[in-house]
Amino acid sequence: MCGIVGGIAQRNVVPILLEGLRRLEYRGYDSAGLAVVNGGELHRKRELGKVQGLAALVEADPMPGLLGIAHTRWATHGKPSTANAHPHTSGDKVAVVHNGIIENYAVLKAEQLAQGYEFTSQTDTEVIVHEVFGALRTAGNLLAAVRQAVQKLSGAYALGIISADEPDVLVACRKGSPLVIGVGIGEYFIASDVAALLPVTQRFMFLEEGDIAALRIGSVEIYNADGQRVERPIRESLLSPDAVDKGAYRHYMLKEIYEQPTAIAQTLEGRFINHRLQESAFGHNAAQMFDEVKAVQILACGTSYHAGLVARYWFEELARIPCQVEVASEFRYRKPMLAADTLVVTISQSGETADTLAALQEAKKLGAKYSLTLCNVPESSLVRESDLVLMTRAGPEIGVASTKAFTTQLVTLMLLVMALGRRFQLDAALEAKITAQLFSLPQKIDKVLRLNDPIRLLSEQFAEKNNALFLGRGAHYPIAMEGALKLKEISYIHAEAYPAGELKHGPLALIDADMPVITVAPNNSLLEKLQSNMEEVSARGGQLIVFMDETLVPAVNGAVQMIKVPQVDNEISPILYTIPLQLLAYHVAVLKGTDVDQPRNLAKSVTVE
Ligand code: G6P
Repeated sequence: MCGIVGGIAQRNVVPILLEGLRRLEYRGYDSAGLAVVNGGELHRKRELGKVQGLAALVEADPMPGLLGIAHTRWATHGKPSTANAHPHTSGDKVAVVHNGIIENYAVLKAEQLAQGYEFTSQTDTEVIVHEVFGALRTAGNLLAAVRQAVQKLSGAYALGIISADEPDVLVACRKGSPLVIGVGIGEYFIASDVAALLPVTQRFMFLEEGDIAALRIGSVEIYNADGQRVERPIRESLLSPDAVDKGAYRHYMLKEIYEQPTAIAQTLEGRFINHRLQESAFGHNAAQMFDEVKAVQILACGTSYHAGLVARYWFEELARIPCQVEVASEFRYRKPMLAADTLVVTISQSGETADTLAALQEAKKLGAKYSLTLCNVPESSLVRESDLVLMTRAGPEIGVASTKAFTTQLVTLMLLVMALGRRFQLDAALEAKITAQLFSLPQKIDKVLRLNDPIRLLSEQFAEKNNALFLGRGAHYPIAMEGALKLKEISYIHAEAYPAGELKHGPLALIDADMPVITVAPNNSLLEKLQSNMEEVSARGGQLIVFMDETLVPAVNGAVQMIKVPQVDNEISPILYTIPLQLLAYHVAVLKGTDVDQPRNLAKSVTVE
């Protein structure tokens, strides 16, 4: 998703902007650009492709400046091209970088064309910069012009704006898309997330919806949506600049897969006293709210949605709590029915996913009294808009394909099952058992990670494949879905997941010697049923690959390849079985030579609808 960086300082900001863009690369993008004000003029460079390409242009023809804005673009309106890359300019005076979507851009564009403005891109962003340029005629200064211009915009935006005529101010604003201000010593920066600015500061202000800020050397003024001057607190980030380094790993994704034992240990830390989960971990008034809750509605997108699907089995099987799970983009427009005493649980790595945020707002409008978010980014929009919060503490996740965020989401979901389950049918003995299982997870995952070599070997069989089918049952069906999602996201192999019992209702027609069928087969009460489904595949000559408890042997006629997964307790088994599927997708992608950490067309943080 588009990334913004900007700065005003008494030193050349260009290297800071370029480093910031590199640190935002993980969000996914197709082109990059930057603009500075120097000597009363705007200077701009843009490049299709990687930030490295833009950096090379700047190296070949330096363009220093004390005031500048920069951007990585993820195409929404108009194809990836240099002309569509930001910053966009108007009258060679004003430049803007934008993250979000301007929904009424067609109307504004028609107006502006009639006024004689020329358009050089197909983006929705260009109308913003013309609107600001136009407003400058009457507004008197850039801040006032931006305030006037944004009144006309509908949709979502985070903006950084500079003007050649005002070299002493960087104007920034946000509505619906994230933007932070980095506070240096006398110097100020803006960025789409804190990671971009960690090399220059660890102190941040988080803009609220509708805020407009004017950043100058030594001062920052912020105005809220009503135009009143406001203060936003400075918060210290606990992230170190190298928290987003790849270390010795070839890809962030592999690093993040291997970080899962630590991430899960961090997620559990400090949340138990004498082996008992503390409900205060969810917020100081959590216990009171939980007492009122009669059901759970989970809302999320992508991998986070899969975590919710696993949790539905847990809520209903382990605690007998009614639980619904829905993709946020559907929920927000479906006119759903929601009882006021339903706990609305959003799950999100970034906390900024536009659909999830909108779904939460919709749930509140429908009368839901209680909301909780399971999130990985402190200070994110979902964290700020939810009554209760449980952070997943996975640490920064850079690979677009989510790994450690997913498994820590599952852990926090299980904590929620325990906390609410006490009020339903989850007894103390089962709670104690699950607690012990959760604490055993880091060690168990370490063991599963030793499957890396056999899985790498297995991945060679996928290099020439175009399709794959994933099967699972019960809580392992969403794990199969997550395995299929990982494979398609990063290896571009078409992969689908099915509940194994559904095989005979359609997908069986796809089975032939060319179709790998990956089965998630833990040792549980559904294993026999699953073995019958495997027989169905084997009888039709399908290529069966089974991830199965090491103590068992697949009772299936015909050839089966088995990856032996260490024994695991039933309740936490979905978390463990996720890991080998992550490794499989990773190795297949490496073999296929794709861009593992930034797969084509995808974004890490989807801040537009
Ligand atoms: C994008 C990412 C996925 C992620 C999904 C939801 O599609 O590429 O990895 O699962 O958004 O993101 P969230 O930050 O809300 O978990």
